[in-house]
Amino acid sequence: MDVVLKSTAPAGIEADVLAVPLLEDEGLTKAGSELDSSLDGLLERLVREGELRGEAGTASVVHVDDMPFRRVVAAGLGEPEWLDADSFRTAASAVAHQVRGFAETVAWTLDPSLPVPLAEQARAVVEGMLLGDYDQARWKHDEPRSKLAQLTILAPDKAKGLKKLVERSAVVTGWVNRARDLVNSPPNETNPEALAARAAEIAAAQEHVEAMALGPKEIEKLGMGAFRAVSQGSDTEPRLIVLRYEPPRPRKKGLVLGLVGKAITFDTGGISLKPALRMEDMKGDMAGGAAVIEATGAIADLGLPIRVLTVVASCENMPGGHAYRPGDILTAMNGKTIEVTNTDAEGRLVLADALWYARQNGATHLLDLATLTGAMEIALGDLYAGIFANDDAWRDEVVAAGEASGDHAWGFPMHPRYRRYVDSSFADLKNSSDLRQAGAVYAAEFLKEFAGEGPWAHADIAGPAFLERSRGDYLSQRGGTGYGVRLIVELASRLT
Ligand code: BES
Ligand code: MN
Ligand code: ZN
Repeated sequence: MDVVLKSTAPAGIEADVLAVPLLEDEGLTKAGSELDSSLDGLLERLVREGELRGEAGTASVVHVDDMPFRRVVAAGLGEPEWLDADSFRTAASAVAHQVRGFAETVAWTLDPSLPVPLAEQARAVVEGMLLGDYDQARWKHDEPRSKLAQLTILAPDKAKGLKKLVERSAVVTGWVNRARDLVNSPPNETNPEALAARAAEIAAAQEHVEAMALGPKEIEKLGMGAFRAVSQGSDTEPRLIVLRYEPPRPRKKGLVLGLVGKAITFDTGGISLKPALRMEDMKGDMAGGAAVIEATGAIADLGLPIRVLTVVASCENMPGGHAYRPGDILTAMNGKTIEVTNTDAEGRLVLADALWYARQNGATHLLDLATLTGAMEIALGDLYAGIFANDDAWRDEVVAAGEASGDHAWGFPMHPRYRRYVDSSFADLKNSSDLRQAGAVYAAEFLKEFAGEGPWAHADIAGPAFLERSRGDYLSQRGGTGYGVRLIVELASRLT
């Protein structure tokens, strides 16, 4: 879908559908009332009669005559006291859903009288519309496809700075949807090799990006005993995927943003096998890797002047005759020994080597993204990721970038006295404990041992990365959300 900005008055816009915001309880906003005067008060009448209600996530189509647009759609923003950028995302997504089957062109009326800044409205509407138009059912034969081809954002004349913002939001959201494609694709299609091919494709298409992928022999030669162990149960080969973005004039020469992703393309749990119920969702256990790969593409596409090193550890976690066992003691790339107490705690093992590799190869500021623990999902549900760090300022920067971008993030604690959780009787650490306490903190304490010197943050995205069911907001479909792409782009922008 093309996205353009215009300052045409809404009443004069040519489009299949013109969207106007509508508040629950309060009815038409200022922009809606202005438009309504060209419609002989039709909208006001429908609000009064209770046909247009403005509930969050509703989009009601009204047909009109003798206007350059054929329909108005009232986009429900919900109750005024809850109004925020997500309200606009949700309303725009609902519009996309409602009209994608018949409309090719949609225009959206921004409203400067609303308490959300115009720039935030514009950004949120573009995101909501593009995320709402996303189709997760690529493998269905009889699914009607979207006809949407153009979105026009209508802004008052003076709002000139919005053009760049609108274009940029469209670019970033495109990368979010490509991350969703990777996460939704089945594990027999998106295996480690396919993920590496996607990274290579990005490197070929984007300037100043290089991609590399290491196979089992090289992984072993690097001493990545933890990553190797997880991968060895599968006949499908692992890949350590490395992307480098080196812009010609980085704003800070000495800063390298290290993005590390967990990409288990299918997590059966291994010998510590998971129960069958909803195991199919474990195709989404590569969502962290997908997010850092696509975010790297987005950063390069925008030409952000920041150096980036992206490292993704990708393999399957399978049971079998070659699988690693509970009781095995592994030696990670940094020399630390790990007693395996649960083969389903595989994410922290692959990340241990990927984090160390990123640090050894020049990353100054590390951020890893991983669908790491069910405990995180129990704590925060499907909306927020939990952010852990060895540096409070860095954690706060990551949380702030997440909140500003729409990828909700919440800080979680780390403390030296949690270290005893990961103590093993036989080795430097163990990978899981039988205590039913603070499972997500445990995992973060484990990772910290492999993050080396300098700021590191860990985003446990087990909740928001893959939705078991619609979230009832702008992410209204089951499956991958592309969580992390927007957060990373925002963080990278703030670091330049
Ligand atoms: N990939 C899972 C975590 C997960 C669970 C992500 C649900 C998304 C939804 C991870 O590898 C895992 O299995 N973690 C275990 C760790 C435990 C064995 C210490 C868990 O959370 O149960
Ligand atoms: Mn697991
Ligand atoms: Zn996993």
